[in-house]
Amino acid sequence: DAAEKGGYEHYMRKEIHEQPVALRQTLSGRIDIERGDADLDVSFPQGYLESLEEIQLVACGTSYYASLYAARLLEQFADVRTTVEIASEYTFDGGRDPWRTLVIAVTQSGETADTLGAIRRAGGAGARTLAVTNTLGSSVTRETEDSLFIRAGPEIGVAATKTFASQVTTLALLAVEIGRKRGTLAATDARAVLENLRELPGAVQQVLDEEARVLEGAERFVDADAFFFVGRQFGYPVALEGALKLKEIAYDHAEGFAAGELKHGPLALVTGETPVLSVLTEGARPGETLNNVTEAQTRAAPAIGVTDGTVETDSLDLALEVSEIGHMTPLVANIYFQLFAYHIADLQGRSIDKPRNLAKSVTVE
Ligand code: AGP
Repeated sequence: DAAEKGGYEHYMRKEIHEQPVALRQTLSGRIDIERGDADLDVSFPQGYLESLEEIQLVACGTSYYASLYAARLLEQFADVRTTVEIASEYTFDGGRDPWRTLVIAVTQSGETADTLGAIRRAGGAGARTLAVTNTLGSSVTRETEDSLFIRAGPEIGVAATKTFASQVTTLALLAVEIGRKRGTLAATDARAVLENLRELPGAVQQVLDEEARVLEGAERFVDADAFFFVGRQFGYPVALEGALKLKEIAYDHAEGFAAGELKHGPLALVTGETPVLSVLTEGARPGETLNNVTEAQTRAAPAIGVTDGTVETDSLDLALEVSEIGHMTPLVANIYFQLFAYHIADLQGRSIDKPRNLAKSVTVE
Protein backbone atom coordinates (compact mmCIF):
# COMPACT_ATOMS: atom_id res chain seq x y z
CA ASP A 1 0.00 0.00 0.00
CA ALA A 2 2.75 2.45 1.02
CA ALA A 3 4.64 1.67 -2.21
CA GLU A 4 1.50 2.26 -4.29
CA LYS A 5 1.09 5.66 -2.67
CA GLY A 6 4.57 6.52 -3.97
CA GLY A 7 5.70 8.23 -0.77
CA TYR A 8 2.50 10.19 -0.26
CA GLU A 9 0.43 9.66 2.87
CA HIS A 10 -2.81 9.51 0.91
CA TYR A 11 -3.84 8.52 -2.60
CA MET A 12 -5.72 11.78 -2.86
CA ARG A 13 -2.61 13.90 -2.48
CA LYS A 14 -0.72 11.62 -4.85
CA GLU A 15 -3.50 11.95 -7.42
CA ILE A 16 -3.61 15.74 -7.04
CA HIS A 17 0.12 15.78 -7.77
CA GLU A 18 -0.24 13.42 -10.71
CA GLN A 19 -2.33 15.95 -12.63
CA PRO A 20 0.39 17.37 -14.90
CA VAL A 21 1.24 13.82 -16.04
CA ALA A 22 -2.42 12.81 -16.28
CA LEU A 23 -3.22 15.87 -18.39
CA ARG A 24 -0.30 15.19 -20.72
CA GLN A 25 -1.70 11.69 -21.23
CA THR A 26 -5.17 13.11 -21.85
CA LEU A 27 -3.80 15.45 -24.50
CA SER A 28 -1.22 13.13 -26.05
CA GLY A 29 -1.61 12.85 -29.83
CA ARG A 30 -4.93 14.67 -29.76
CA ILE A 31 -3.81 18.17 -30.70
CA ASP A 32 -3.10 19.19 -34.28
CA ILE A 33 -1.89 22.76 -34.04
CA GLU A 34 -1.17 23.11 -37.76
CA ARG A 35 -4.72 22.26 -38.81
CA GLY A 36 -6.08 23.99 -35.71
CA ASP A 37 -8.06 20.91 -34.74
CA ALA A 38 -8.41 18.19 -32.16
CA ASP A 39 -7.88 14.61 -33.16
CA LEU A 40 -10.03 12.28 -31.06
CA ASP A 41 -10.54 8.63 -31.82
CA VAL A 42 -14.32 8.84 -32.17
CA SER A 43 -15.70 8.44 -35.65
CA PHE A 44 -19.16 9.90 -35.88
CA PRO A 45 -21.15 8.99 -39.01
CA GLN A 46 -20.51 11.21 -42.02
CA GLY A 47 -22.35 14.52 -41.60
CA TYR A 48 -23.59 13.68 -38.10
CA LEU A 49 -21.91 16.52 -36.18
CA GLU A 50 -22.89 19.06 -38.84
CA SER A 51 -26.56 18.17 -38.45
CA LEU A 52 -26.52 17.94 -34.65
CA GLU A 53 -29.35 19.84 -32.97
CA GLU A 54 -28.55 19.39 -29.30
CA ILE A 55 -26.01 17.93 -26.89
CA GLN A 56 -27.10 16.61 -23.49
CA LEU A 57 -24.53 15.75 -20.81
CA VAL A 58 -25.59 13.40 -18.01
CA ALA A 59 -23.48 12.77 -14.94
CA CYS A 60 -23.29 12.75 -11.12
CA GLY A 61 -21.16 14.51 -8.52
CA THR A 62 -17.80 15.73 -9.71
CA SER A 63 -18.48 14.44 -13.22
CA TYR A 64 -21.61 16.62 -13.24
CA TYR A 65 -19.54 19.69 -12.36
CA ALA A 66 -17.00 18.80 -15.07
CA SER A 67 -19.96 18.62 -17.46
CA LEU A 68 -21.18 22.08 -16.41
CA TYR A 69 -17.73 23.46 -17.25
CA ALA A 70 -17.64 21.63 -20.58
CA ALA A 71 -21.16 22.65 -21.61
CA ARG A 72 -20.04 26.28 -21.82
CA LEU A 73 -17.16 25.25 -24.08
CA LEU A 74 -19.46 23.17 -26.28
CA GLU A 75 -21.93 26.02 -26.65
CA GLN A 76 -19.22 28.56 -27.38
CA PHE A 77 -17.14 26.52 -29.81
CA ALA A 78 -19.75 24.32 -31.48
CA ASP A 79 -22.69 26.71 -31.32
CA VAL A 80 -25.05 23.90 -30.37
CA ARG A 81 -27.64 23.96 -27.60
CA THR A 82 -26.10 22.06 -24.70
CA THR A 83 -27.81 21.01 -21.50
CA VAL A 84 -26.41 19.28 -18.45
CA GLU A 85 -28.51 17.09 -16.24
CA ILE A 86 -27.95 15.25 -12.99
CA ALA A 87 -28.23 11.65 -14.16
CA SER A 88 -30.72 10.61 -11.47
CA GLU A 89 -33.06 13.43 -12.57
CA TYR A 90 -32.79 12.75 -16.29
CA THR A 91 -35.59 12.03 -18.69
CA PHE A 92 -34.95 12.10 -22.42
CA ASP A 93 -36.63 14.80 -24.43
CA GLY A 94 -34.99 14.83 -27.82
CA GLY A 95 -37.34 16.86 -29.97
CA ARG A 96 -38.69 15.53 -33.24
CA ASP A 97 -35.61 13.61 -34.31
CA PRO A 98 -33.92 11.96 -31.28
CA TRP A 99 -30.94 10.86 -33.39
CA ARG A 100 -29.95 14.52 -33.82
CA THR A 101 -29.42 14.75 -30.06
CA LEU A 102 -26.05 13.51 -28.83
CA VAL A 103 -26.28 12.33 -25.22
CA ILE A 104 -22.92 12.11 -23.45
CA ALA A 105 -22.51 10.09 -20.25
CA VAL A 106 -19.62 11.56 -18.27
CA THR A 107 -18.42 9.08 -15.66
CA GLN A 108 -14.97 8.40 -14.24
CA SER A 109 -15.75 4.84 -13.21
CA GLY A 110 -18.17 3.98 -15.99
CA GLU A 111 -20.16 2.07 -13.37
CA THR A 112 -22.38 4.73 -11.76
CA ALA A 113 -25.90 3.28 -11.75
CA ASP A 114 -27.65 6.65 -12.10
CA THR A 115 -25.57 7.53 -15.16
CA LEU A 116 -26.03 4.09 -16.72
CA GLY A 117 -29.79 4.41 -16.18
CA ALA A 118 -29.84 7.84 -17.85
CA ILE A 119 -27.83 6.78 -20.92
CA ARG A 120 -30.00 3.68 -21.31
CA ARG A 121 -33.09 5.89 -21.35
CA ALA A 122 -31.50 8.14 -23.98
CA GLY A 123 -30.35 5.24 -26.17
CA GLY A 124 -33.73 3.55 -25.81
CA ALA A 125 -35.45 6.70 -27.06
CA GLY A 126 -33.26 6.77 -30.17
CA ALA A 127 -30.58 9.34 -29.26
CA ARG A 128 -26.96 8.82 -30.28
CA THR A 129 -24.87 8.10 -27.19
CA LEU A 130 -21.24 8.64 -26.23
CA ALA A 131 -19.36 7.68 -23.05
CA VAL A 132 -16.61 9.90 -21.67
CA THR A 133 -14.88 7.74 -19.08
CA ASN A 134 -11.60 6.85 -17.43
CA THR A 135 -12.24 3.11 -17.42
CA LEU A 136 -11.66 0.85 -20.41
CA GLY A 137 -14.19 -1.97 -20.62
CA SER A 138 -16.51 -0.38 -18.02
CA SER A 139 -20.29 -0.87 -18.22
CA VAL A 140 -20.91 2.54 -19.78
CA THR A 141 -18.76 1.64 -22.78
CA ARG A 142 -21.10 -1.27 -23.50
CA GLU A 143 -24.19 0.94 -23.26
CA THR A 144 -23.07 3.61 -25.74
CA GLU A 145 -22.33 3.82 -29.45
CA ASP A 146 -18.89 5.38 -28.92
CA SER A 147 -16.43 5.87 -26.07
CA LEU A 148 -13.87 8.55 -25.40
CA PHE A 149 -11.23 7.87 -22.76
CA ILE A 150 -9.95 10.60 -20.50
CA ARG A 151 -6.68 8.66 -19.82
CA ALA A 152 -6.13 10.02 -16.30
CA GLY A 153 -4.82 6.68 -15.01
CA PRO A 154 -6.30 4.81 -12.03
CA GLU A 155 -7.88 6.99 -9.35
CA ILE A 156 -8.11 5.29 -5.95
CA GLY A 157 -9.10 8.13 -3.59
CA VAL A 158 -12.87 8.35 -3.23
CA ALA A 159 -12.65 12.09 -3.86
CA ALA A 160 -12.22 12.63 -7.59
CA THR A 161 -9.35 14.98 -8.41
CA LYS A 162 -7.24 14.28 -11.48
CA THR A 163 -10.23 12.86 -13.31
CA PHE A 164 -12.11 16.18 -13.02
CA ALA A 165 -9.28 17.97 -14.83
CA SER A 166 -8.98 15.22 -17.44
CA GLN A 167 -12.75 15.12 -18.04
CA VAL A 168 -12.91 18.86 -18.69
CA THR A 169 -9.84 18.65 -20.92
CA THR A 170 -11.20 15.75 -22.98
CA LEU A 171 -14.54 17.51 -23.42
CA ALA A 172 -12.71 20.72 -24.38
CA LEU A 173 -10.99 18.77 -27.18
CA LEU A 174 -14.37 17.39 -28.23
CA ALA A 175 -15.81 20.91 -28.26
CA VAL A 176 -12.97 22.01 -30.55
CA GLU A 177 -13.50 19.05 -32.88
CA ILE A 178 -17.25 19.59 -33.11
CA GLY A 179 -16.77 23.35 -33.57
CA ARG A 180 -14.30 22.77 -36.40
CA LYS A 181 -16.59 20.23 -38.13
CA ARG A 182 -19.58 22.55 -37.88
CA GLY A 183 -17.56 25.53 -39.09
CA THR A 184 -18.40 27.53 -35.98
CA LEU A 185 -14.81 27.70 -34.65
CA ALA A 186 -12.20 29.33 -36.89
CA ALA A 187 -8.79 27.67 -37.18
CA THR A 188 -7.06 30.63 -35.51
CA ASP A 189 -9.46 30.55 -32.55
CA ALA A 190 -9.08 26.76 -32.29
CA ARG A 191 -5.30 27.16 -32.29
CA ALA A 192 -5.52 29.59 -29.36
CA VAL A 193 -7.66 27.11 -27.38
CA LEU A 194 -5.32 24.24 -28.20
CA GLU A 195 -2.30 26.32 -27.14
CA ASN A 196 -4.04 26.97 -23.83
CA LEU A 197 -4.64 23.25 -23.42
CA ARG A 198 -0.97 22.57 -24.15
CA GLU A 199 -0.04 25.05 -21.40
CA LEU A 200 -2.40 23.43 -18.92
CA PRO A 201 -0.06 20.78 -17.39
CA GLY A 202 2.62 23.41 -16.75
CA ALA A 203 0.11 25.83 -15.21
CA VAL A 204 -1.14 23.06 -12.91
CA GLN A 205 2.45 22.28 -11.89
CA GLN A 206 2.94 25.92 -10.85
CA VAL A 207 -0.03 25.59 -8.48
CA LEU A 208 1.34 22.34 -7.02
CA ASP A 209 4.62 24.13 -6.36
CA GLU A 210 2.69 26.59 -4.15
CA GLU A 211 1.28 23.90 -1.86
CA ALA A 212 3.04 25.30 1.22
CA ARG A 213 1.00 28.50 0.92
CA VAL A 214 -2.22 26.49 0.76
CA LEU A 215 -1.21 24.60 3.89
CA GLU A 216 -0.65 27.95 5.69
CA GLY A 217 -4.14 29.04 4.61
CA ALA A 218 -5.65 25.76 5.78
CA GLU A 219 -3.96 26.14 9.19
CA ARG A 220 -5.38 29.62 9.49
CA PHE A 221 -8.96 28.67 8.64
CA VAL A 222 -9.28 25.05 9.78
CA ASP A 223 -11.66 25.96 12.63
CA ALA A 224 -14.10 27.94 10.48
CA ASP A 225 -17.84 27.34 10.89
CA ALA A 226 -18.40 26.89 7.14
CA PHE A 227 -16.71 27.57 3.81
CA PHE A 228 -18.35 29.33 0.88
CA PHE A 229 -16.98 28.99 -2.64
CA VAL A 230 -18.03 31.51 -5.27
CA GLY A 231 -17.38 31.91 -8.97
CA ARG A 232 -18.98 33.11 -12.18
CA GLN A 233 -19.04 31.54 -15.64
CA PHE A 234 -16.36 28.81 -15.72
CA GLY A 235 -15.65 29.69 -12.10
CA TYR A 236 -19.11 28.56 -11.01
CA PRO A 237 -18.70 24.78 -11.52
CA VAL A 238 -15.25 25.16 -9.97
CA ALA A 239 -16.88 26.71 -6.89
CA LEU A 240 -19.37 23.82 -6.70
CA GLU A 241 -16.56 21.29 -7.06
CA GLY A 242 -14.39 23.02 -4.45
CA ALA A 243 -17.24 22.85 -1.93
CA LEU A 244 -17.97 19.20 -2.72
CA LYS A 245 -14.33 18.24 -2.03
CA LEU A 246 -14.45 19.87 1.40
CA LYS A 247 -17.78 18.24 2.30
CA GLU A 248 -16.61 14.81 1.23
CA ILE A 249 -13.26 14.58 2.92
CA ALA A 250 -13.32 17.15 5.76
CA TYR A 251 -17.02 16.73 6.72
CA ASP A 252 -17.17 20.51 7.00
CA HIS A 253 -20.12 22.57 5.89
CA ALA A 254 -19.23 23.97 2.49
CA GLU A 255 -21.37 25.45 -0.28
CA GLY A 256 -20.67 26.63 -3.79
CA PHE A 257 -22.58 29.58 -5.17
CA ALA A 258 -22.73 31.58 -8.37
CA ALA A 259 -21.00 34.70 -7.02
CA GLY A 260 -23.87 36.95 -8.11
CA GLU A 261 -26.29 34.87 -6.05
CA LEU A 262 -24.60 35.66 -2.72
CA LYS A 263 -26.68 38.81 -2.32
CA HIS A 264 -29.89 36.91 -3.11
CA GLY A 265 -29.79 34.90 0.10
CA PRO A 266 -26.57 33.17 1.15
CA LEU A 267 -25.11 36.48 2.39
CA ALA A 268 -27.30 36.01 5.46
CA LEU A 269 -25.06 33.09 6.44
CA VAL A 270 -21.83 35.05 6.14
CA THR A 271 -19.96 35.91 9.36
CA GLY A 272 -16.38 36.39 10.46
CA GLU A 273 -16.18 32.60 10.77
CA THR A 274 -17.13 31.74 7.20
CA PRO A 275 -14.23 32.14 4.76
CA VAL A 276 -15.24 32.90 1.19
CA LEU A 277 -13.08 31.30 -1.50
CA SER A 278 -13.36 32.76 -4.98
CA VAL A 279 -12.22 32.33 -8.57
CA LEU A 280 -10.92 35.71 -9.77
CA THR A 281 -9.51 34.80 -13.16
CA GLU A 282 -10.05 35.04 -16.88
CA GLY A 283 -13.19 33.12 -17.82
CA ALA A 284 -14.81 33.85 -14.47
CA ARG A 285 -15.69 37.58 -14.63
CA PRO A 286 -13.16 38.51 -11.95
CA GLY A 287 -14.20 42.16 -11.53
CA GLU A 288 -17.83 41.39 -10.77
CA THR A 289 -16.87 38.44 -8.59
CA LEU A 290 -14.49 40.60 -6.58
CA ASN A 291 -17.37 43.01 -5.93
CA ASN A 292 -19.40 40.12 -4.50
CA VAL A 293 -16.45 39.03 -2.37
CA THR A 294 -16.11 42.58 -1.05
CA GLU A 295 -19.77 42.44 0.06
CA ALA A 296 -18.93 39.33 2.08
CA GLN A 297 -15.82 41.00 3.50
CA THR A 298 -17.98 43.91 4.64
CA ARG A 299 -19.80 41.29 6.78
CA ALA A 300 -16.39 40.30 8.25
CA ALA A 301 -15.81 37.19 6.13
CA PRO A 302 -12.17 36.32 5.47
CA ALA A 303 -11.50 36.19 1.72
CA ILE A 304 -9.29 33.74 -0.15
CA GLY A 305 -9.07 34.30 -3.90
CA VAL A 306 -7.38 32.62 -6.82
CA THR A 307 -6.11 35.29 -9.17
CA ASP A 308 -4.34 35.55 -12.53
CA GLY A 309 -3.54 39.21 -11.96
CA THR A 310 -6.54 40.53 -13.92
CA VAL A 311 -7.91 42.32 -10.86
CA GLU A 312 -6.29 44.02 -7.89
CA THR A 313 -6.35 41.54 -4.99
CA ASP A 314 -4.60 43.50 -2.21
CA SER A 315 -7.77 43.51 -0.15
CA LEU A 316 -7.86 39.69 0.11
CA ASP A 317 -6.69 37.83 3.20
CA LEU A 318 -4.97 35.29 0.97
CA ALA A 319 -4.34 35.61 -2.78
CA LEU A 320 -3.19 32.51 -4.66
CA GLU A 321 -1.74 32.98 -8.13
CA VAL A 322 -2.32 31.09 -11.36
CA SER A 323 -1.11 31.66 -14.91
CA GLU A 324 -3.73 32.94 -17.31
CA ILE A 325 -4.56 30.34 -19.96
CA GLY A 326 -7.86 31.57 -21.37
CA HIS A 327 -10.96 29.43 -20.80
CA MET A 328 -8.92 26.86 -18.90
CA THR A 329 -7.75 29.24 -16.15
CA PRO A 330 -10.58 28.41 -13.71
CA LEU A 331 -9.72 24.72 -14.13
CA VAL A 332 -6.22 25.55 -12.88
CA ALA A 333 -7.73 27.52 -9.97
CA ASN A 334 -9.55 24.33 -8.97
CA ILE A 335 -6.21 22.68 -8.09
CA TYR A 336 -5.85 25.19 -5.21
CA PHE A 337 -9.31 24.17 -3.96
CA GLN A 338 -8.34 20.49 -4.09
CA LEU A 339 -5.20 21.18 -2.05
CA PHE A 340 -7.15 23.34 0.38
CA ALA A 341 -9.76 20.63 1.00
CA TYR A 342 -6.99 18.06 1.38
CA HIS A 343 -5.10 20.06 4.01
CA ILE A 344 -8.21 21.08 5.94
CA ALA A 345 -9.17 17.39 6.12
CA ASP A 346 -5.63 16.26 6.95
CA LEU A 347 -5.29 18.79 9.79
CA GLN A 348 -8.46 17.29 11.26
CA GLY A 349 -7.14 13.74 10.89
CA ARG A 350 -9.95 12.63 8.55
CA SER A 351 -10.04 9.34 6.67
CA ILE A 352 -9.16 11.12 3.44
CA ASP A 353 -9.07 8.27 0.93
CA LYS A 354 -12.16 6.53 2.30
CA PRO A 355 -14.51 9.13 3.74
CA ARG A 356 -17.38 7.91 5.88
CA ASN A 357 -20.59 6.84 4.12
CA LEU A 358 -19.11 7.14 0.60
CA ALA A 359 -18.01 4.67 -2.09
CA LYS A 360 -15.73 5.27 -5.07
CA SER A 361 -18.39 4.17 -7.48
CA VAL A 362 -22.05 4.21 -6.65
CA THR A 363 -23.70 1.19 -8.20
CA VAL A 364 -27.19 1.67 -6.76
CA GLU A 365 -29.82 4.08 -8.07
C1 AGP B 1 -16.38 12.84 -6.34
O1 AGP B 1 -15.42 13.30 -5.48
C2 AGP B 1 -17.34 11.89 -5.75
N1 AGP B 1 -16.71 10.78 -5.15
C3 AGP B 1 -18.58 11.58 -6.56
O2 AGP B 1 -19.33 12.75 -6.59
C4 AGP B 1 -18.40 11.06 -8.02
O3 AGP B 1 -17.89 12.06 -8.83
C5 AGP B 1 -19.76 10.55 -8.54
O4 AGP B 1 -20.20 9.48 -7.74
C6 AGP B 1 -19.71 10.14 -10.00
O5 AGP B 1 -18.82 9.09 -10.22
P1 AGP B 1 -18.42 8.66 -11.67
O6 AGP B 1 -17.67 9.78 -12.29
O7 AGP B 1 -17.57 7.44 -11.50
O8 AGP B 1 -19.68 8.38 -12.42
